[in-house]
Parts: sequence; C-alpha cells; structure tokens
Amino acid sequence: MISGKKVVLGITGGIAAYKSVEVVRRLVEGGAHVAPIMTSGAKRFIGEVTLSALASEPVKSSLWDEDDPIPHTTLGQEADVILVAPATARLIGTYAAGISNDLLTATLLASRAPVILCPAMHTEMWEHPAVQENIRTLQNRGVTIVAPEDGKLAGGDEGKGRLASPSAIVSAVEQALTLDDLAEFKILITAGGTREQIDPVRFITNKSTGKQGYALAEAAVARGATVTLVTTVDREAPIGVEIQHAESASDLRSAVMSCADNYDVIIMAAAVADFQPSLPADRKLKKSQQITNLEIEPTHDFLIDLGKGKSSNQIIVGFAAETEELEKNAKEKLERKNLDLIVANDVTAPGTGFAYDTNEVLLITGQGKTNVPLASKRVVADKILDAVLGLRESKV
Ligand SMILES: Cc1cc2nc3c(=O)[nH]c(=O)nc-3n(C[C@H](O)[C@H](O)[C@H](O)COP(=O)(O)O)c2cc1C
Repeated sequence: MISGKKVVLGITGGIAAYKSVEVVRRLVEGGAHVAPIMTSGAKRFIGEVTLSALASEPVKSSLWDEDDPIPHTTLGQEADVILVAPATARLIGTYAAGISNDLLTATLLASRAPVILCPAMHTEMWEHPAVQENIRTLQNRGVTIVAPEDGKLAGGDEGKGRLASPSAIVSAVEQALTLDDLAEFKILITAGGTREQIDPVRFITNKSTGKQGYALAEAAVARGATVTLVTTVDREAPIGVEIQHAESASDLRSAVMSCADNYDVIIMAAAVADFQPSLPADRKLKKSQQITNLEIEPTHDFLIDLGKGKSSNQIIVGFAAETEELEKNAKEKLERKNLDLIVANDVTAPGTGFAYDTNEVLLITGQGKTNVPLASKRVVADKILDAVLGLRESKV
C-alpha cells in the first residue's frame, strides 16, 4: 500500500522523538520513500545522523537550504502524505494558526497532500483547551489526528499523551494513501439553490450556497471518483471535477435526467425549489402591476423519478433540510421517494445547514441511522461518502 509513495515525515521536539526512528524503519521497510524534516527542537532530542541513515534521503531542517532554493514547495508538492510524529503542542498551534516559521510548517502550508499528526505531550498540555481547540480546528480542515495513548509519560507520570504506537501510525499512513476507495465510482452531485424566474430581473430562490455539494465533489474526487457537479452557483470548481451549470429546477432536472443512467451514485445536495411562478413574465414587471398576486405552481419532483427509475446497483442520495420533526420527516421522504440514503439536517440548529462552513446531519438508510456531529462540510462529505460505500458493498 505504501510502496513507492513519498512520505514527508516531520519530527518535532518532544521526548517521543526517538520513537520516530522506528516509524521511519517500518515505512522504509514497506517500500515508502521517506523524506525527513527535523525541527531544531527535534535535534535536541535525537541525532540527525540516525534519521538520515535510516530514511530514504538526508534530513532537511532549513528553509534556507543551499541545494534547493524553495525546499518547502518541493517537499509539499511531491508528498503523497505528510506525517508529523511526534507533533508538539507548538507545531499543532502554529499549523492551526497558519503560521509558517520553519521548514516543517512552511511545507505543511504549501501542500495539498493528506496530513497526519501524531501528538505527544504531557497530559496537562494535551488537555489544555488551547491545544484541544487547535486539534478540533485541524480536524475540521480534514487533518487526521492519531490520538495519543494513555500510559507512562516522561518523568514517571501516567496519563494520556503518549505517542501512538508505531503500528497505529503506519496504519494511519496506509489508510491515507489508499483513499482511492471510490475509484470505481461515477458520481453525479448537484449543488446550490435553484432560481425560479418571476420576470427577467427577479426570481424566487432559497438560502442554499452550494457549500455542502462542493465539499462532496471535492471529497469524492480526492477519493478517486469520477465526478460531475451540476451547480447553480458560481464558485471555483474543485480540481478534477466536471462542471455543468443550471439555474432553475427545470434546468437542473434536464441536466440530471439526461445522463442519470451513466452514474453509479447520484447525490442531490442542491436545494431544488418546490414551487415556481406559473407564468414568468418575459418583460420586467412594473410596480403598478400586481406582483403581489403572483401565481405559483409546484415544480416537478424529479427526485421521485430518480428513486423509482434507478437501476439495481445505483444509489440515490437525497437531502432533507427540516425545521421540525427531523427524523420523522426525513424517513418519510426516504421511503416515499425510494431513496437509498437521506442526509437530514435541522436548519434551525446553530452552525448547521445553509451558508455555514459546518454541518450536523443525520444519515438515514433502510438499515438504520447515524448521527454525524457538527463538523466542517468536508468532514461531513466524507461521512456521507462512507455511507454510500457501505450501501454499495451491501448491494453487490
Ligand atoms: C525535556 C523536554 C521535553 C519536552 N517534551 C515535549 C513533548 O513531549 N511535547 C511537546 O509538545 N513539547 C515538549 N517539550 C517542549 C518543546 O520542546 C518546545 O515547545 C519546543 O519549542 C518545540 O519545538 P518544535 O515544535 O519546533 O520541535 C519538551 C521540552 C523539554 C525541555
């Protein structure tokens, strides 16, 4: 799994730095190319020579390396994964704050590779609210934290804070590198709120910004899927995602229904209007005209068509934004529309639903429900994709 992959390994200045030697040995034995970066703190705890001898290339420590004028971007771009073991409270705080003040933090910020941090410190440091908040911030950005273990600490104390075992660390690296678990999937995702035209300058819409749909597209493509995003919003597309634009519920329906059969999974994250003006004007309505008597009619519910017309292996995912009786309403929608999974959120809860960068959702399938607590939309996206993967495995 790790053979041929480039692992940039950051080592910071804690007592557990000596354990990084065993981690390097195991990664190299597994066929990985290990590029070590030591902080100046780390060098107070272990010798650079030991790591240079065991790793695949000599230790780098300085941003001002003479051989490579910009070592942080080279390392950041070439990395398949960046692992920091052990990660000090200092490194965690600096990275969470987006500060680049040494080669390791600069490399972390200059990279889009998956990042794994393995904190190690005294229990009081680990439990400090500042450290815990930094950990949550990083987790919400998609960083994997290999939690420290309970056990004997430096100085003879006992408690949480001991570096995770080398096997737990190596298995986190393996997991990060095998995130192509959706490589077989063609996924169609919709995002944003539709606009239903009243006249050429006015429309009916909703509060959706498309953030959850974009996060899903980004997560799915990172996991190897072929992704098409049908969107009503004008945001920068995640790299590797094919984009189609739509404006109204009817546009979205045409775009989705014309190609639905080509996809293994359809995720309807868009907030499609339930109603539209019956007779949109083709000229701007004047104030004097009776806009207040606007006649509206229901839009065609094509999620029902998708649910009813799906092939035996196809997975259809719907969303339910609710303000009351979340689970009951979402379950009813799941069954009535013959969906495989419904992602329900209570849009009255703080930090949840439209426009936020975070979400808290309830995932409901025919088999049961899972609560995904408040987290970034990217983390929620991965949980939704995990559920999709589980459904697919149960179908084939
Ligand atoms: C003996 C000793 C042990 C330390 N162990 C830890 C540790 O386990 N975890 C930690 O976060 N900091 C520890 N520190 C504090 C760090 O070494 C210090 O914050 C340093 O600035 C970290 O630098 P670095 O993150 O650039 O490597 C220790 C300091 C000393 C003197």
